[in-house]
Amino acid sequence: MLEIRNITKSFGADQVLKGFDFFVREGDVVSVIGPSGSGKTTLLRCINFLENADSGTIRIGGLHADFSRIRKKEKIAMRRKTAMVFQNYALFSNMTALENVMEGLVIARKMERPAAKEAAVKVLSKVGLASKLDSKPRELSGGQQQRVGIARAVALNPEVILFDEPTSSLDPEMVDDILALIKDLAREGATMAIVTHEMQFAYEISDRVVFLDKGEILAEGSPPEIFDRPREDRVKQFVSRFNFKRAPEYYL
Ligand SMILES: Nc1ncnc2c1ncn2[C@@H]1O[C@H](COP(=O)(O)OP(=O)(O)O)[C@@H](O)[C@H]1O
Ligand SMILES: [Mg+2]
Repeated sequence: MLEIRNITKSFGADQVLKGFDFFVREGDVVSVIGPSGSGKTTLLRCINFLENADSGTIRIGGLHADFSRIRKKEKIAMRRKTAMVFQNYALFSNMTALENVMEGLVIARKMERPAAKEAAVKVLSKVGLASKLDSKPRELSGGQQQRVGIARAVALNPEVILFDEPTSSLDPEMVDDILALIKDLAREGATMAIVTHEMQFAYEISDRVVFLDKGEILAEGSPPEIFDRPREDRVKQFVSRFNFKRAPEYYL
């Protein structure tokens, strides 16, 4: 369970998160959608403590803290509760797939190298990369690199996995492949918050959809509530663009 209350974040005079609540129940998948610049990435980065939110509270995996006065030690403990999958993969280019996944286990989780290796091999095999353990990122396709990114997050066994547009750097033919992998994780009960522009995917995978606009939650609900019968004009306008994209008539 992840629970954020009244989160605010400004960059200079620009308030990017305007004080809303956000939660993900255990085993749930929550998709965060909304226009570019609405604060989706900033929200995930604050949850993962890559950014410091200005105020609000966070509760995750039995820990609780106030963003405005969190101590460094608390922050480190809280960071361990989440893992992030990035749009641009964010792999270490000088390390192999195996080393990329082991790194967090050894450094952040203080695992011994043999145990870390065993865990990393297991997760990389699970995402279909058993034959690529010794490959460097530049020797892998975009889809394979993102598989490493996902394996790295899953290996950490976090309370919540945070995905920031995991498929938007990928060639079209790789997108479905990564979406299928994320669906497998959902089926296995992983708790996830996913920022995505893949509306069909969000429709199919989400327990809840949160629509962010200008730093505020404009709407939230089940996929049918948001995609089939949105009440707010802004949401209607946004989702209507996507509904037709994959409709059969699009291809006629
Ligand atoms: N490090 C930063 N410094 C200054 N402004 C930022 C920074 N990161 C994001 N912003 C601004 O915050 C707003 C929200 O950005 P972001 O969270 O990336 O939105 P989204 O992911 O929804 O596209 C944008 O106006 C963006 O320019
Ligand atoms: Mg973003």
